[in-house]
Amino acid sequence: MLYLRMNSPFIFGKIAKGNNFTNRAFEMKRLVANFDDKVNTILISPRRWGKSSLVNKSASLFKKEKNKYSVMIDLFNIRDEAQFYSYFAKKVIQETSSKPREWMDTAMSYLKRLSPKVSFPVNMTNDFEITFELRDKAEDFEDILNLPEKIARAKKIEIAVCIDEFQNIANFDQPLLFQKRLRASWQKHQETVYCLYGSQTHMMTTLFERKSMPFYKFGDVMYLSKIDSTYLTEYIVTQFKNTGKKIEPDTAKKITEEVQCQPYYTQQLAHIVWINTDKAVTSEIFERSLTELIEQNAPLYIKDTESLSNTQINFLKMLIESERKDIYAKELIQRYRLGTSGNVTKIRTVLINKEIIHLVNSRYELVDPVFRLWLKNIYFKS
Ligand SMILES: Nc1ncnc2c1ncn2[C@@H]1O[C@H](COP(=O)(O)OP(=O)(O)OP(=O)(O)O)[C@@H](O)[C@H]1O
Ligand SMILES: [Mg+2]
Repeated sequence: MLYLRMNSPFIFGKIAKGNNFTNRAFEMKRLVANFDDKVNTILISPRRWGKSSLVNKSASLFKKEKNKYSVMIDLFNIRDEAQFYSYFAKKVIQETSSKPREWMDTAMSYLKRLSPKVSFPVNMTNDFEITFELRDKAEDFEDILNLPEKIARAKKIEIAVCIDEFQNIANFDQPLLFQKRLRASWQKHQETVYCLYGSQTHMMTTLFERKSMPFYKFGDVMYLSKIDSTYLTEYIVTQFKNTGKKIEPDTAKKITEEVQCQPYYTQQLAHIVWINTDKAVTSEIFERSLTELIEQNAPLYIKDTESLSNTQINFLKMLIESERKDIYAKELIQRYRLGTSGNVTKIRTVLINKEIIHLVNSRYELVDPVFRLWLKNIYFKS
């Protein structure tokens, strides 16, 4: 007998595309309009809320029009400024050329002063590397940073440069100087528009909202929200239906509620429920899948808690159990042995910087909803 196995209609940990991308209509409209109008955008959210997927989708909508191009740059493994310039130049050249033969010419004609060295990795016809001899001179950096604008003018095109994991520039040797260089060049561009996005909300906010910082008022600052439960519920029901399985809207809604509508975990939990279901989801399947979700992610949470002090953990316990706004209430400080109110402030700051807690409607909450479930149902119970 032929055994046909259907693939799961849910994805997580990858860019959400096609059928897997749901809603975000409002955000997409705003982002594409910014690209069209050359308004720079800064997009900020905690990890895994869907920044990369949203920008990816918006950039592909933008470049559907003639003479519009997008350059997607991911800083996740870029460690220093020199690496950034090489990668930036390479991506800009690659994405705006129609054929590999043009790469060398483009590099030579725009970046000649920097004696670019172009090399082709073995067995790769569609990739290349470019390195420079950078002196510590402003014009050297400017040549590279102005590259997209120069190409856009020469080719009469418009370019959206999208830079993911932007918070990583904090690890560069001189992050402030680097930001000044970027800003000085990019603010003059007219045919190129920038979208800078990343997590670590606290740090990103400092980079873009503090008056003393180079990127202050660089553009439209967008705080991405989670996806509304209604859309996620509909999405789950449809994905089940399209693969010949059945889930009640109420159960689908429960999936979104357990993970507080966080897009990544919604997909992960829906995936586990789907795998565990033959024909129709039962409440037993739902409960078992929720346990599996927590167990699958537990190793991460164990590691996270190991890096926290006892008082930091007590503070999280206080947040989860009391669900109160006033973190300085005397009886809470006593019950959870948090020391002084000065201590509470310190704990709060550390946990915000680590992106473990954040402020939602003037109440501190755990950023990761499943970490919260794990602490509540397993860690604090044992
Ligand atoms: N529009 C969407 N519709 C459905 N699921 C989504 C959507 N956006 C994101 N997701 C889910 O969330 C996951 C994470 O999305 P994405 O990688 O875009 O987030 P991110 O904010 O860039 O994360 P990170 O901070 O880790 O870079 C995706 O793999 C997918 O499961
Ligand atoms: Mg991302």
